Amino acid sequence: MVLDLETLPVRDVYQWMVCAITPRPIAWVSTISAAGQTNLAPFSFFQGVCANPPTLLFVGANDCTGNPKNTIINVREVSEFVVNIVPDAMRDLMNQTASSLPRGESEFERFGIAAAPSGKVRPPRVAAAPVSFECRLDRIIQIGDGPLAGNAVFGRILLAYVNETVLTDGRIDPHKLDAIGRLGGDFYTHTREVFAMDRPAWSLLTSFGSRCVASFGLFCWAITTVRPSLGEPARG
Ligand SMILES: Cc1cc2nc3c(=O)[nH]c(=O)nc-3n(C[C@H](O)[C@H](O)[C@H](O)COP(=O)(O)O)c2cc1C
Repeated sequence: MVLDLETLPVRDVYQWMVCAITPRPIAWVSTISAAGQTNLAPFSFFQGVCANPPTLLFVGANDCTGNPKNTIINVREVSEFVVNIVPDAMRDLMNQTASSLPRGESEFERFGIAAAPSGKVRPPRVAAAPVSFECRLDRIIQIGDGPLAGNAVFGRILLAYVNETVLTDGRIDPHKLDAIGRLGGDFYTHTREVFAMDRPAWSLLTSFGSRCVASFGLFCWAITTVRPSLGEPARG
């Protein structure tokens, strides 16, 4: 079966994508409007981008009338947000926050979700979330126009809150984190069942090899550049 996404109706494109691109992590995003009203909503078009600088990304699609969602409007008004990780124990609350509440009505208050003040940004974090990333807006890239077009929000992570109960030997333990992920339709998954795989030997060799080449390059540079200048007689 081959699908031509250039001719399929947008709604079908969306369905094929969300059923195939799985599992997706869920960013539970808290924002605040210029008027100071908080907002909380889940987004599964979500990923880490890079560690240097620490950056993540989520995408808020336009609604079916082509208008941006409250989260996107808020981030445009106050360029800060918090991404909270959703544990299985909070899945029902997370799901409730996907309701389209009128602008200005807070999901924190409506669904009784305890908020905790953030350290470096104005929107609060979800108090019971095991991990929260406080972010400053880096940029929003608008992809397309109209219904279901994307607003890709890149955030610079300023501060991470990690609840120590999810740690084992100082690292986040996937069993304790117990994050959930989104599949297609109404299906979700959790991360309780995990497996480990050793990296293939060639990848270790390649990485070892490239380090050797880099070290050798540095050595050559040192003996050809630094060494002669050390030995040069002082000019007077
Ligand atoms: C698990 C889950 C994941 C979702 N992922 C996205 C997403 O990636 N992008 C999006 O635009 N909406 C997504 N939604 C729908 C939004 O959460 C929903 O439209 C919400 O009402 C937006 O809230 P807001 O208007 O307060 O920003 C998702 C909903 C759920 C339950």
